[in-house]
Amino acid sequence: MAHRLLHFYYSGVNMLPKLELIAAACENMGIGINGDLPWRLKTEMAFFTRMTTDTKNKNKKNVVLMGRRTWDCIPEKYRPLQNRINMVLTSQSLDYGDKAITCKSIPHAIKVITDMQNQVERVWVIGGSSVYKSTMESPYFGRLYLTRIKKKFECDTFFPLIPSDFVLIKDPTVPQDIQEEKGIKFVYEVYEKR
Ligand SMILES: NC(=O)c1ccc[n+]([C@@H]2O[C@H](COP(=O)([O-])OP(=O)(O)OC[C@H]3O[C@@H](n4cnc5c(N)ncnc54)[C@H](OP(=O)(O)O)[C@@H]3O)[C@@H](O)[C@H]2O)c1
Repeated sequence: MAHRLLHFYYSGVNMLPKLELIAAACENMGIGINGDLPWRLKTEMAFFTRMTTDTKNKNKKNVVLMGRRTWDCIPEKYRPLQNRINMVLTSQSLDYGDKAITCKSIPHAIKVITDMQNQVERVWVIGGSSVYKSTMESPYFGRLYLTRIKKKFECDTFFPLIPSDFVLIKDPTVPQDIQEEKGIKFVYEVYEKR
């Protein structure tokens, strides 16, 4: 359990953040279609909100790190995702004012997060495809929270291949039983690198 609290770890002289990925994928590993989610599952969305928002230290917030298209996909009235520090990866010179911090690369995002680590508890990577892939392969990877939706949906965006050294673990903050909404079954899985 102790390691559960260690969302930052030492590397040399710097404290570097661990990245926790959160995603929902259907049976064919789809995560999106036409810039939207392929499904509407309120309990799954509430799980996402709880996991990415809750902090043990009320003086800290979590970061939600996402690709520019995922930011574009969030309806304007829900942007930025409230009570979280929103960070957007983009190669463009975009300015979201005080809504979100833009970063040119993952190392750039890590630097920005490290510089404000006193305010940050957890760092959540919330998509999309290429951001999941590069963070799963990075030395900063901590955990993958993956909701498996037990149904096939038409999708144009997919979750990348999960590396073979990822293993399922139990997190007591995650419901273990099968969830069901609108007749669609889903389960919350948590992975760490072996
Ligand atoms: N089911 C889920 O859990 C879930 C989660 C998230 C998203 N989605 C769905 O997935 C779709 C969007 O995801 P997506 O994969 O198409 O796009 P995305 O990863 O959100 O965004 C891609 C863009 O992010 C920027 N980017 C990515 N990696 C970068 C890097 N290392 N450095 C700098 N910029 C980087 C680039 O922006 P520029 O082009 O501006 O340079 C790139 O074009 C939507 O359908 C959405 O609903 C589903």
